[in-house]
Amino acid sequence: MYSLLLLAAAAPFAQAVRIIQSNDDGWAEANVRTFFNALNAAGHEAVLSAPAENQSGTGSSDATPTTVGSDGCQFDSCPGGSPPTGANATDPRLNYVNSFPVTSIKNGISVTAPKLWNGAAPELALTGPNVGSNIGIQVPFSGTVGAAVYAAETAQIPAIAFSGQTGDPTAWNAETPLHSQIYADLALNVTTTIINSGKPYLPPNTFLNVNFPSVSQCSDPSQFKYIFTRINLGLFSAADADWCGSTRLPTESSVILFKGSGCYVTISPGDATDKTTVNDAAVQTQIINKLKPILSCLP
Ligand SMILES: *[C@@H]1O[C@H](CO)[C@@H](O)[C@H](O)[C@H]1NC(C)=O
Ligand SMILES: *[C@@H]1O[C@H](CO)[C@@H](O)[C@H](O)[C@H]1NC(C)=O
Ligand SMILES: *[C@@H]1O[C@H](CO)[C@@H](O)[C@H](O)[C@H]1NC(C)=O
Repeated sequence: MYSLLLLAAAAPFAQAVRIIQSNDDGWAEANVRTFFNALNAAGHEAVLSAPAENQSGTGSSDATPTTVGSDGCQFDSCPGGSPPTGANATDPRLNYVNSFPVTSIKNGISVTAPKLWNGAAPELALTGPNVGSNIGIQVPFSGTVGAAVYAAETAQIPAIAFSGQTGDPTAWNAETPLHSQIYADLALNVTTTIINSGKPYLPPNTFLNVNFPSVSQCSDPSQFKYIFTRINLGLFSAADADWCGSTRLPTESSVILFKGSGCYVTISPGDATDKTTVNDAAVQTQIINKLKPILSCLP
């Protein structure tokens, strides 16, 4: 009885959520695998459906998956000539799709994940952490964002795209790099905050574009501050939400690039219909209210 009570007290969250994961760097890259492990360790039911190869920069491309070429999947994670889609031989939650990021998450949402969940659909879509930032004008080209936007707009599943500035592509079975571990912790914090805010997790047709700064200055996840930002400048747009003493949010590039020494994570409200900033102040405010437990203002 005593140990049961202790266990309950130590449980980090109240609720297990069905999560579909993808990225554009490939299913065998360390960032997405470290985040997959963190989500499952936190008690969630995560299923990964990501490209067999690096598909960085392929935006919203979508094409029928094809047989894997003679070189095999990325980092020798599957043999040459493998079928167009496949799973890890011992863990059916880890899936590759030999096509684009959008095709991968689509296959995960409509085929792979429901099969593992007795037909149930994902409740949340998480992409990345991408190897490298996706800020401002990079956003439309990112496959990590493309997959999140497919989930939010086409599949109507709340979606968050994560990207991290530090790091080189690393194989899943190499020693886990420090940046992958830190970015997984930070991404789990944002995910837990959104889950704790209750359903619907995000307003319809929106996604979050989250960027983590370099880990060279800050290596303790508790040192990072979360700043609410815009993807692009709002020169001609209506006033933003009244937040941090202003009605114009800072851009994510100004926060990540020019205040990079301050360990600031940027969170932008994304419009899934065109990959720009949500310009509706009322919708921005709904999202701010969900993220309030972790948001800070710039000094
Ligand atoms: C994928 O390719 C891009 C260039 O197209 C490169 O910058 C990136 O590091 C590669 N990522 C992986 C995981 O190999
Ligand atoms: C498949 O899963 C097993 C068990 O989790 C792991 O040891 C192995 O490295 C994985 N391989 C790939 C390519 O995911
Ligand atoms: C999440 O981030 C907030 C704000 O920085 C911090 O206070 C909190 O400890 C973090 N939680 C976890 C579980 O890391």
